[in-house]
Amino acid sequence: MMQDSLVLVTGAASGIGRATALRYAERGARRIACLDLHDKGAADTVALLKQMGAEALAVHVDLGDVASIRAAYEEAVSWLGGLTAAAHIGGYSWRGETLDVTPEQWDQVVNVNLRGAFFCSQAALRVMYAQGRGAIVNMSADAAFHPVHGFAVQAAGKGGVALMSQTLAMESARRGVRVNTVSPGIVKVQPTGVSRPDSPALRPVEGQAPPPPVDTLPDQTVPGRYSTAEEIADAVVYLSSDAASAVNGVILPVNGGGYFSLQY
Ligand SMILES: NC(=O)c1ccc[n+]([C@@H]2O[C@H](COP(=O)([O-])OP(=O)(O)OC[C@H]3O[C@@H](n4cnc5c(N)ncnc54)[C@H](O)[C@@H]3O)[C@@H](O)[C@H]2O)c1
Repeated sequence: MMQDSLVLVTGAASGIGRATALRYAERGARRIACLDLHDKGAADTVALLKQMGAEALAVHVDLGDVASIRAAYEEAVSWLGGLTAAAHIGGYSWRGETLDVTPEQWDQVVNVNLRGAFFCSQAALRVMYAQGRGAIVNMSADAAFHPVHGFAVQAAGKGGVALMSQTLAMESARRGVRVNTVSPGIVKVQPTGVSRPDSPALRPVEGQAPPPPVDTLPDQTVPGRYSTAEEIADAVVYLSSDAASAVNGVILPVNGGGYFSLQY
């Protein structure tokens, strides 16, 4: 499915990003560049990929820093020797009390999740336009489409990722490049990458039941369970592959059927 492809994955040190890098290797990718802020996690992913017979390289990147994104892309693409597919997965989910969010927290979360995805996409498009082919997959989140208490900043960033990607898809459609978005519901991961910034605790509202803790979210979903990182990875790899050659600009929810209610 990805035979001989040259692939770049951000967030490859952990969770969905690592699962995606491994899936690319299973599907025959030749070279995989693993970008992350967490060097040890990225190196561990590279070791796993090499055991599977793929060529792999760990590249340091801070997705909150555009200069770092550009430098990492330059290093990765020059090693890859081209770019068949780019999966921009790095970032995090962040839940915090709206009244207590600071400008610094907004900047940190939105810069990594949204600005990072844009400038990674820009770097990928520069290479892919020159090649006349390529596929980009960006990572949104269902919290952008189903309101969840405390996820306003997350919704702003991840909703922005999805809509920005549709514009890029339209711009790139006649240049041989596709840009799609995956929107996971709730995914059980064992994070080994960087930890997210502290969240301001949700405030109780007088006369209202407190919002339930986030780890009970799966109960509110149709399948009643977490998705696995591998289930998200399968969707990313599909959208990157020629099997999806006419699929462009979609926001693909991978959530087992969504949420039962928005009363969360
Ligand atoms: N787990 C979920 O339920 C869920 C749901 C919806 C969307 N997502 C999205 O999926 C993506 C992957 O998340 P995950 O669940 O696998 O979590 P994770 O913490 O296991 O993986 C996130 C990876 O991103 C890296 N990262 C974080 N900040 C970075 C930065 N500034 N620069 C470079 N790398 C950075 C981390 O080091 C880590 O390797 C994220 O964008 C997240 O928002 C996750």
